[in-house]
Amino acid sequence: MDTKMLSGDAAIELGADLISRGELVAFPTETVYGLGANVFRPDSIKKIFEAKGRPSDNPLIVHVADIDDITPLVKEFTPLNRAVAEKFMPGPLTLLFPVSDAVPRVVTAGLDTVAIRMPAHPVAHKFLKACCAPLAAPSANRSTHISPTRAAHVYEDLKGLIPLIIDGDVSNVGIESTVLDLTGETPTILRPGAVTAEMLSAVLGDVKTHKGVINVAKAPGMKYKHYAPRVEMWVSEDINKIVDKYDTLQKSGLNPVILISTSMLPAIQGRNAIDLGEGIEEVCANIYSALHSAEAEYGSIICYDYGDAGLAGSVMNRVNKAAGGNRL
Ligand code: TXA
Ligand code: MG
Repeated sequence: MDTKMLSGDAAIELGADLISRGELVAFPTETVYGLGANVFRPDSIKKIFEAKGRPSDNPLIVHVADIDDITPLVKEFTPLNRAVAEKFMPGPLTLLFPVSDAVPRVVTAGLDTVAIRMPAHPVAHKFLKACCAPLAAPSANRSTHISPTRAAHVYEDLKGLIPLIIDGDVSNVGIESTVLDLTGETPTILRPGAVTAEMLSAVLGDVKTHKGVINVAKAPGMKYKHYAPRVEMWVSEDINKIVDKYDTLQKSGLNPVILISTSMLPAIQGRNAIDLGEGIEEVCANIYSALHSAEAEYGSIICYDYGDAGLAGSVMNRVNKAAGGNRL
């Protein structure tokens, strides 16, 4: 299959036509690029699992254009869910709802909840409107690989497997949405993201997070290997250890690179580096792109540890998984 990469209104028009014919289309969101299919067509949904190589017990997120589009997809839209939706949607937040009979069970992997999100990216919004149906969409990467924040990342993983990638430039949040479960007694973050526990607490009071311990039964996707570059990777908050490891890897011919903020570059004294920018928002926006470049151009990766406070915790959740837990 020939994979086109297009932008602008022509891309949206072609994309909507492909979706109506049961095909898959990759599209930009502000978190990462998604691989979309009409949520009401089980035949199309199956193609998502095939193209990604995704296990069928890992449910998909449904994307809507407007908050009102949520109603037919859910059994109950509680005042609490509505308050959170109105505060954080559109944006990088996914909410769980009891699923209605309108949603095929292949989307939810048989669960009785459905995950729903309303992207803020203007191209995503326009595309969802043009499709006239919600789109089930996981991140547009092959299963276990790094998520895409540019059309070129999608092309690298899915060329030949899907007919169209809508190019909407860079995903400026940079990591996947926060997944929040309000169906239990205490609001629980199943996957950390740019909407942090602190931000949610302002609306919800107590919010449970899984500091490294993810509730696997609740978020089936979290049990799988994730965000993995093709080369080995380590994480540390200690510049001396980073530099020592770099030199050892260099001597062994493993062509290392250090992922670190602009202001810390002088501390690594001219060793190969990818600049993550300054401030945690920039680091978050740049991290997946940096991992993509690092695996393409180097033989091993060392990433600085930004700690676990707020957005840094969400970024490090991905980085630690990418490193398979390797620490210095
Ligand atoms: O930012 C994002 O969320 C991106 C963009 C494209 O919207 N999408 C995304 O989808 O990251 P995906 O499939 O890569 O990750 C979805 C995560 C998985 O860990 C999955 O297990 C979890 O959400 N999930 C989906 N439906 C669920 C449900 N009903 N209950 C619990 N977890 C669910
Ligand atoms: Mg994913």
